[in-house]
Amino acid sequence: MRTQVGIVGAGPAGLLLAHLLEREGIESVVLEDRSRRYVEERVRAGLLEQGTADVLERSGVGERMRREGLVHHGIELRFDGASHRIAITDLTGRSIMIYGQQEVVKDLIAARLACGGPILFEVSDVALEGLDARSPAISATQAGTRIRIECDYIAGCDGTHGVCRGFIPGGVLTHFEREYPFAWLGILAKAPPVSHELIYSRHQRGFALYTMRSPSLTRAYLQCKPDEDLAAWSDRRIWDELHVRLQGGAKRLEEGEIVLRGVTPMRSYVCEPMQYGRLFLAGDAAHIVPPTGAKGLNLAVHDICVLAQALVAAYRGERSLLERYSERCLRRVWRAEHFSWWMTSMLHRFDGDDPFQERLQLAQLEYVTGSRAAATSMAENYAGLPYEEHGR
Ligand code: FAD
Ligand code: PHB
Repeated sequence: MRTQVGIVGAGPAGLLLAHLLEREGIESVVLEDRSRRYVEERVRAGLLEQGTADVLERSGVGERMRREGLVHHGIELRFDGASHRIAITDLTGRSIMIYGQQEVVKDLIAARLACGGPILFEVSDVALEGLDARSPAISATQAGTRIRIECDYIAGCDGTHGVCRGFIPGGVLTHFEREYPFAWLGILAKAPPVSHELIYSRHQRGFALYTMRSPSLTRAYLQCKPDEDLAAWSDRRIWDELHVRLQGGAKRLEEGEIVLRGVTPMRSYVCEPMQYGRLFLAGDAAHIVPPTGAKGLNLAVHDICVLAQALVAAYRGERSLLERYSERCLRRVWRAEHFSWWMTSMLHRFDGDDPFQERLQLAQLEYVTGSRAAATSMAENYAGLPYEEHGR
């Protein structure tokens, strides 16, 4: 088999790349190790920056998002028993959108299949070769048969546990990493969200986030131990803990059947550069942020916009954008790394925190909610900096 761009991973990054290339007349093949059903049902991110929503809209896959997505103009920060609103739209002129990542994935798969573009689901043992040659190749096993796809370029969009990064020779990449001593216990519940906006709450017992997926589905997260035993968390215990940590949400919180629960580890990670020869890493395959700043999916979409634009230019004979791919992405990546680390540090309880550390967190929260300048800085990072400033 031969294609122009071989794409490993049918998450938001890989699927969006295939879609943007298709619109420019560039062929690709997407390889995914899970089933279609699995990727369409995997519940993860939910908050899209306006820039991300605009990319989906402009490329023709925003129709359902426009109908079903929830546009928000602010978020709430709670600490010391009181609520403080960060008026994102008033401060930045931009809004944010709640629309589940799995819905984005469904829309992109539907668009791909509608134009007859190949997605090979349930492949295994993906291997890359010839990355520094003119024609690299991907091999994989599909339904017991080994296949080989020759490509002009390969996009490694296979997420944090992917294999593509591992085919870059030793010594090329520098890895930057930070682990956090906690995780998030996330739930999805059949309960109408009682708050119109997201609530980020700092509490002595640990951080809590109240968010949503639709007018009938609540999503919420509780800071927990990295090795938290889910079996120890009954529905009752989860709701009780949310009532307490959301401080004052207690009166209003609607409970409902918990239909999904899981533990998400928290990690910051960047590899530099994000490219080697004809392999380009994008999204979680190249960088991870803790979910506190809601940046992971949004960064993946930005990488893909930069990569698609560079590949289109390369096929027109101009390779300099491809050569600068990593450099163009990393400026925004590091801004988001800092913002996500900062939000995480300000809102979570760290074991061993002393009263001095707690006072620092509260001083920071008071500054962010009390000063227009500080609130604006937070809001512009949260809503996402314009693409022109980061990534050109
Ligand atoms: P992925 O979505 O991980 O896709 C990679 C794909 O590659 C997967 O389909 C995987 O099955 C496939 N794959 C892996 N290995 C192989 C292989 N060897 N061969 C073939 N295929 C392979 N981000 C936000 O922006 N906003 C949020 O609100 C937000 N909230 C989050 C909440 C939680 C609980 C979590 C866990 C994450 C959240 N994120 C959020 C982060 C976001 O989900 C990720 O950054 C996003 O999924 C990255 O997309 P991706 O396409 O790069 O990687
Ligand atoms: C979500 O809706 O799942 C969500 C929102 C904001 C975050 C993380 C997750 O910071």
